Amino acid sequence: MHKTAAVIFDLDGVIVSTDEFHYLAWKELADAEGIPFDREDNERLRGVSRMESLDILLEKALKPYSDANKADMAERKNAMYRGLLERLSPADLLTGVAEVIDGLRLRGVKIAIGSSSKNASRILKAIGLADTFDAVADGTHITRSKPDPEVFTLAAHLVGIPPEQCLVVEDAHAGVEAGVAAGMRVLAVGPAADHPSATLRAKDLSAISLDEMLSHRTA
Ligand code: BG6
Ligand code: MG
Repeated sequence: MHKTAAVIFDLDGVIVSTDEFHYLAWKELADAEGIPFDREDNERLRGVSRMESLDILLEKALKPYSDANKADMAERKNAMYRGLLERLSPADLLTGVAEVIDGLRLRGVKIAIGSSSKNASRILKAIGLADTFDAVADGTHITRSKPDPEVFTLAAHLVGIPPEQCLVVEDAHAGVEAGVAAGMRVLAVGPAADHPSATLRAKDLSAISLDEMLSHRTA
């Protein structure tokens, strides 16, 4: 039995609801290009990198796009997304997040971010958490996005805790798979809570106690 010495949080959809902003920006791009795109399609983009998300969106495109076109589209989407991020403030932390972070710090548990996003620093600053985490591993530090375990393996390395003592918190199926592939326990929240490989499940972070999070009972 290993104790949980670090909790690695996904950012988008776990700490803050930027997932809606991602949807709105992709939707605007898809509409401008005449590509069908709805919320169900958007679910497949959760946890996936920007360029891989674009490839998924383009599965329904009516014409081929060159690499230069794709780079331009990703840039346009990111500009729209960053415009939406300007609305973010500390009031946008998701339910239960502040309490869980405080509780973990009081117990001496390391806390880290493991996110596929290249906008993670910008988001953490906007919500007032730029200096809160012991380590931040994000899309600017990795070459393989979730479901590859790279970002979680890096976060664990940065806080100096072995994978078997880490708990990942994820809202994406790809992220649950990444956490499991990294050899970590995974608390699946929100839309990921139906994933069969999750160790623990909760509607959101207010719906689970710290004792449950840190215990090694399987769900
Ligand atoms: C993940 C989101 O956290 O980051 C994905 O769940 C997003 O939807 C990915 O595509 C990359 O984000 P960014 O900010 O680098 O475009
Ligand atoms: Mg997420």
